[in-house]
Amino acid sequence: MALESALREAIRAGRLSPGESLPASRVLAAELGLARGTVVEAYSQLVAEGYLRARQGAGTEVAEAPGVMPRPRGEPQPRRFAADFQLGRPDLSAFPRQEWLRALRRALHGVPHAELGPGDPRGSLRLREVIADYLGRVRGVLAPPERIVVCTGFTQGLRLVCDAIAMAGATRIGLEDPCLPDHRATATAAGLTVVPLGVDDDGAVSESFGVTAAVLTPAHQAPLGATLATQRRTEFVRLAEEHDAYLVEDDYDGEFRYDGHPIGALQGLAPERVIYAGTASKSLVPGLRLGWLVVPAALLDAVIEAKRRADRGTDVLNQLALAEFISSGGFDRHIRRMRLRYRNRRDAVLDTLRTAAPAYRVRGTAAGLHVVAGLPDGMAEADVLAEAERQSIGLVGLEPFWHENPSRGRGLVIGYGTPHQHGFPSALAKLGEFLRTIGP
Ligand SMILES: Cc1ncc(COP(=O)(O)O)c(C=O)c1O
Repeated sequence: MALESALREAIRAGRLSPGESLPASRVLAAELGLARGTVVEAYSQLVAEGYLRARQGAGTEVAEAPGVMPRPRGEPQPRRFAADFQLGRPDLSAFPRQEWLRALRRALHGVPHAELGPGDPRGSLRLREVIADYLGRVRGVLAPPERIVVCTGFTQGLRLVCDAIAMAGATRIGLEDPCLPDHRATATAAGLTVVPLGVDDDGAVSESFGVTAAVLTPAHQAPLGATLATQRRTEFVRLAEEHDAYLVEDDYDGEFRYDGHPIGALQGLAPERVIYAGTASKSLVPGLRLGWLVVPAALLDAVIEAKRRADRGTDVLNQLALAEFISSGGFDRHIRRMRLRYRNRRDAVLDTLRTAAPAYRVRGTAAGLHVVAGLPDGMAEADVLAEAERQSIGLVGLEPFWHENPSRGRGLVIGYGTPHQHGFPSALAKLGEFLRTIGP
C-alpha cells in the first residue's frame, strides 16, 4: 500500500525519527484525501512490523526503528527531536502547497520569454509592484517599486547593505546586544566592525551612535522580544539624521502580533533613513529564500550593484509565484490562518510555563514565534540544555546571542512555531514534563 511504503521508507531513511508523533488517523486521512480505514490499516501494519508504536491515549509515534539506513559519509545528520522548539522556523507543515502550486502554474503560463532573464538585479517588476502595495497596506512602509530590491532573505539583504555602506567607506555597524550570532558573522564577513547596542524592555537603547548603520528589530526584538517604544523610534531617527547614518529595520516576524494595536514599521517615519528588510522565512518558509529591501534613494545604486555582484538577481519563477500568491489574496489568507494558529500556541506555551516553570521570567510574548524564559538564579544554561538534549527536546539557550559576556542573561528561547501542527500538543506536553523535571 502506497502510504504504508512511504511511511516505512521515511522511517528507514531517518526522515521520521524515533519518538516523533504521527497525525491522528482521522487528521492524516483528511490531509491526504484517503479513507480513514486506509490510514488505520497502514499504521497497524507498521506497528506490527515494529516501525511505529501505539501509545495508550497518546496516539502513534515512530518506534526505536530497527534497520534505519545509515547516511552516506560526510552528509550531516540533522538532529531530530521528539519535541522541537528550536528558534527560527515557522511550522513547515503549514506551507500552502496546493495554493503555491496554482500560483506557480499561473506565473509560468503568463511569463513572457523576456522575463526569464537575466533581468534587473532588483528582481521582477511584477513582484516589486505587488510588494510595494502589500507593504504600504499592511506595514505602513513607503515603498515605490523602483526602491525595492528582492533578495534571498534577510541574511543576503543584510550582506548587501553591509557591502553597500562599506563601498562608501563605512567601517562600523551597530547590532543589538543580544542579537542573532549569524547577523554578527555576516557584518564581520563584510569587513565591518560590530558595535553592540544595548537592549532593555523598550527595545534597543538609542544612546551611542558612532556608526554608519544600526540594525534594529523594532517589531519584536530578536531574541528578547520587546517592541521598540515610540519615543525610541523617534530618537533613533533623529540620531540617524544627525549622524548621516542609516537604520536597518529587520521586520522578520512583523506579520505576527497578538496583543495590543498593530504597530507599523519604523520605515514609515523616515523612508530616507531606514532600510526596510522583509522576508518570507517566517510568513511562508525559509526554504523559499525570498526577502526584500526597501532602500533610501541615496543608497539605492550601491545596493543594486552589490546584488548584481552577488548573484545578478534572485530566482525569477519563485518571485513570480509569490507575486501571484500575494495578489490573489492567498498570502493574506495564509497569514490570517497562521496568526490565529501561532496565537493559540503562544497561549498554550504561556499556560505550560505558568504551571510547569513558575519561577522563570517570561518575556517577549506579544508577538512573533518565540518567547524567552529567563532561568531562575542558580540554574546553569548549559546544564539545562544538556538535559533537554538527553530528553530529545530541541531548545536554544540565550547565552550565544550576547556579543561578549554571555553571563548577562541565561534563558531558554522557545520557538513555538517549529513543531508541526499535528504534533504540537504532544511536543508541548513533553516540554512541560521536561520543565517540571529540571525544577527548581
Ligand atoms: C532576527 C531574524 N531576522 C531575520 C530572519 C530571517 O532570515 P532569512 O530571511 O535570511 O531567512 C530570522 C529568521 O530566523 C530572524 O530570526
